[in-house]
Amino acid sequence: MPALEDYVDREQAYVKHIFLERYLEALFHKTGSSYSHIVYVDGFAGPWQSSHETFEDTSFGVALSALRKSKVSLKLRGRDVHMTALLVEKHPEAHTKLAPCSRAFQT
Ligand SMILES: C[S@@+](CC[C@H](N)C(=O)[O-])C[C@H]1O[C@@H](n2cnc3c(N)ncnc32)[C@H](O)[C@@H]1O
Repeated sequence: MPALEDYVDREQAYVKHIFLERYLEALFHKTGSSYSHIVYVDGFAGPWQSSHETFEDTSFGVALSALRKSKVSLKLRGRDVHMTALLVEKHPEAHTKLAPCSRAFQT
């Protein structure tokens, strides 16, 4: 769960990320109950105004966490679901920060 102290002067993003976390976990569970591969696409990934070195306070960080949690809980229910995240970003500086997270994510 995102930590409120990472969102000073951008508390609206905290609310967005809480909604996103709940929505994505429910969506991934529903989708993973019927399909064997989930591909998550973020077309405007950032990072943007992140104060966390592992980007837990960004939309894509929340999404990657939800994919990992859903993968584990689906596995416990006998479903081996392949997860892929495609993170798209046009700004070169942001893209450089994003690349290690993006490359690392494929289960
Ligand atoms: C508001 S920020 C993203 C915030 C991010 N979702 C987060 O929670 O940290 C919007 C991002 O979209 C990127 N962007 C804008 N237009 C784009 C485009 N046409 N293709 C890819 N990325 C784009 C910007 O460089 C910026 O990093």
